[in-house]
Amino acid sequence: MRRQYVLSLLILVFSLTGVAQEEAGCSAGELAQQQSTLASFLALDFAADIDAALANLFRLGALYQSMALQCGYAPNEVEVDRLLEQALMFASLEDLIAAQSVGSDVGAILLELDEVYGDPLQGQLLYNGLEPALSGTALGCSGCHENEAVAPLTAGTWTRVNDIRLALPQFADYSHRQFLVESVVQPMAYITPDYAGMMPEFYGGQLTVQQLADLVAFLDSQDQFLQDG
Ligand code: HEC
Repeated sequence: MRRQYVLSLLILVFSLTGVAQEEAGCSAGELAQQQSTLASFLALDFAADIDAALANLFRLGALYQSMALQCGYAPNEVEVDRLLEQALMFASLEDLIAAQSVGSDVGAILLELDEVYGDPLQGQLLYNGLEPALSGTALGCSGCHENEAVAPLTAGTWTRVNDIRLALPQFADYSHRQFLVESVVQPMAYITPDYAGMMPEFYGGQLTVQQLADLVAFLDSQDQFLQDG
């Protein structure tokens, strides 16, 4: 129950970190006032009064949400760090990451993806290691997928999946998205021969649904013609 609160709050905060920081429609005075209210909520003393602290945490989440919607406000790193620190009093970092990651159940993931808009530009940043994954580290996709000897090239992924992979009998009933999702979260389900590399199996535990949606959107934008057919 309590952990539920913390986790949903964190998910909210992380989802807001991508919101552009513009102050349109909000006066400087109003924003400063809201920020000082946030600061007082951040001084949560879980050890002393857990119920009061949780109630504050909940109000904090609601305040963040309204500030994001009304003022385009996104929490800064210090605030996010404070929240994480508090949350770590309830759950281990592994549990927090696990609670927010997509996992590796392709069917369940496809249903979740239906509700999420994938941003190809954000996906490109993740893919190239310019934005960290849930664990705080870079994903390393481009490191392998830029070298044809190691892994299938990034450029032309959409075309290759569409024209070559989905034409194989074992993928007869696969959708394009299903193939990509399985490739990322269950790479061992189908191994493309001829590559020196091995795709790591841990990505389902490192990506949020949003991040996976962004990666899929980026891969779908790779619709170059294939040179070797
Ligand atoms: C250590 C090297 C390595 C890393 C890192 C890696 N991959 Fe791969 N990937 C491979 C190899 C090798 C294959 C082909 C063998 C296979 O099917 O597993 C592959 C296959 C794929 C495919 C299927 C492509 C096709 O043409 O069938 C996709 C999509 C893919 N990877 C996406 C990703 C994404 C997204 C990431 C980062 C989250 C990533 N890969 C990270 C090595 C890697």
